[in-house]
Amino acid sequence: MKNLLILFCSLLLSGVFGETDDGNMSVKEGDSVTLKIKPQDINRAEDLRWRFNDTIIAKIDLEGKDKPPVYPDEKRFRDRLKLERENGSLTITHITSEHSGVYQLEIRRSQSTYKTFRVSVIAITEPSQMSHWMITGPVLAVAVVLLLVGVLYVIYKRYKKRDEMLEYGKKVKKKKMRLPYI
Ligand SMILES: *[C@@H]1O[C@H](CO)[C@@H](O)[C@H](O)[C@H]1NC(C)=O
Ligand SMILES: *[C@@H]1O[C@H](CO)[C@@H](O)[C@H](O)[C@H]1NC(C)=O
Ligand SMILES: *[C@@H]1O[C@H](CO)[C@@H](O)[C@H](O)[C@H]1NC(C)=O
Repeated sequence: MKNLLILFCSLLLSGVFGETDDGNMSVKEGDSVTLKIKPQDINRAEDLRWRFNDTIIAKIDLEGKDKPPVYPDEKRFRDRLKLERENGSLTITHITSEHSGVYQLEIRRSQSTYKTFRVSVIAITEPSQMSHWMITGPVLAVAVVLLLVGVLYVIYKRYKKRDEMLEYGKKVKKKKMRLPYI
């Protein structure tokens, strides 16, 4: 009951402040991702501003006819962005870990609205490390088994030799004991 109340309150709050997420996406390093906006979402918009971590990375003036999009970020997103004039969707190509984070589109009109996306970039070093272990793992296991077999063999040999020596010792004793009788 208490949880339900908290859930209800948080839903209400997120509704009021427009803090809802419109998508959580996971992208593999090096891939492309498109943050999709529907054409009807940008109805009557004057201009569009995409932000990453509160910095404008792409914008377009929709009132000026045929004005191309502008990409102010020269460092992190250089040559990686494409903003669609028709629907406001933003495509990020050759994504790397430094592009993980929150992206927000501001749809500017008399009363602006927002679309928020969380993008997490999956490093591709992890699966390659796993395949590394998948290759060396069995080899290592075989090596350990061989080592164990070797150790056991050496131990077996030692015991056998000791047994033989004991046996030999007994025989010698017997011979010695028998000697006086000959
Ligand atoms: C995205 O993830 C956050 C937590 O990381 C969660 O609060 C939110 O509800 C998720 N949004 C969607 C649309 O799945
Ligand atoms: C947005 O526009 C582009 C280019 O016209 C198109 O390729 C894409 O499918 C559109 N996306 C949506 C969600 O309408
Ligand atoms: C986001 O901006 C803050 C303040 O400018 C900065 O400290 C932080 O490192 C930035 N985060 C990312 C992921 O760029």
